[in-house]
Amino acid sequence: MTSSIIRNPLSRRGFLGAAAAAGAGIGLGPAHAEKPAPDPLITEVQDWNRYLGDGVDKRPYGTPSPFEKHVVRRHVAWLTASPESSVNFTPLHELDGIITPSGLCFERHHGGIAEIDPANHRLMIHGLVEKPLVFTMEDLKRMPRENRIYFLECAANSGMEWRGAQLNGCQFTHGMVHNVMYTGVTLKTLLNEVGLKPNAKWLMLEGADSAGMNRSLPVEKALDDVLIAFGMNGEALRPEQGYPLRAVIPGWEGNLWVKWLRRIEVGDQPWQAREETSKYTDLLADGRSRRFTFYMDAKSVVTNPSPQAPLKHKGRNVLTGIAWSGRGHIERVDVSLDGGRNWRTARIDGPVLEKSLTRFYVDFDWQGEALLIQSRAMDSTGYVQPSKDDLRKVRGVNSIYHNNGIQTWHVRPDGETENVEIG
Ligand code: MTE
Ligand code: CO
Repeated sequence: MTSSIIRNPLSRRGFLGAAAAAGAGIGLGPAHAEKPAPDPLITEVQDWNRYLGDGVDKRPYGTPSPFEKHVVRRHVAWLTASPESSVNFTPLHELDGIITPSGLCFERHHGGIAEIDPANHRLMIHGLVEKPLVFTMEDLKRMPRENRIYFLECAANSGMEWRGAQLNGCQFTHGMVHNVMYTGVTLKTLLNEVGLKPNAKWLMLEGADSAGMNRSLPVEKALDDVLIAFGMNGEALRPEQGYPLRAVIPGWEGNLWVKWLRRIEVGDQPWQAREETSKYTDLLADGRSRRFTFYMDAKSVVTNPSPQAPLKHKGRNVLTGIAWSGRGHIERVDVSLDGGRNWRTARIDGPVLEKSLTRFYVDFDWQGEALLIQSRAMDSTGYVQPSKDDLRKVRGVNSIYHNNGIQTWHVRPDGETENVEIG
């Protein structure tokens, strides 16, 4: 598979030009030794000093600065047949901390975005229950609610990379993940209201979108930590993320997190998923498949430097990335700059939560040498993120799902960075 995003679009000349311009500013390089010419940015009055800015009546719902307009979700047109049944990717290399801003959460849907008036939305719970019930949004908002931060990762994240390094940017290799604070009612609370019959074993969750996506969920998980969420990052869900209601299935593959949730049917066995949305099984080398691969195993990626975020300065630099595990919290992240020969333990900063993205840093000095950057996550169960080779020994290369292998970025002496694999 080839396309323009496979090779780094940054031209060498563009990159060197940017580096030279940056050297004229406040830097740590040798340019500092001579007395710099007066900087007009300091000595001259600028436009933003001179004119009145927008008043408080101009931006009733704020948006990012126009200087941040490159920070957007991106899609890869040739990956799927249509944009309605497709995916776009979180710009991980532009983000920091652990929370993904709502407007940058990757989107994955099979029938486009359903636009639903919450007044017309219903959630029905029926099947093997004592008392089938229908909830309106207003009903749900009068029930006890909880706030939880969780990552959502599509099982197909990094799926293009099973056979070798493909896409040039962590946005494309790892961007089917986001991390959000959800507000909602626990599914356990709702199931207590309807009363599960003793033979209730599986739930079928169904969306109200044109795909009518449905997935089966074991009752043990439903009673454990599943949320039926109407809020994300302090406000209502975004339409792209399932407004007005979605399932939050912590630590499990994104496909189960049914958006625009309208119906839960309780049964005694797993449901047959509908065509097109049902292919979330992992094909093994021998043609057999792994079914019910619900958990997302520990994984990490260095987001900076990375192909879309090359190194620009020698000397002081910040390496950063994210790590997550569907089985617990992140215990430790190790980083190698030489392709796995030597490892150092990264500095974790910010909250370390169960089934959430965790932020790590390595503050390092770069003298223009080539680097092979890798990160390796360890979770609270003691599980260590495997190399891609080790993963392939067990799973082969036929799957597109559950690729949590260690990513390698090659930083060249000019700072440009590429997606590579080392043997
Ligand atoms: N729910 C509905 N109703 N329709 C869909 O197509 N896609 C699923 C899941 N829930 C989907 C859905 C898949 S495959 C994933 S990975 C997640 O939603 C993506 O959630 P997001 O769009 O909030 O990132
Ligand atoms: Co998915």
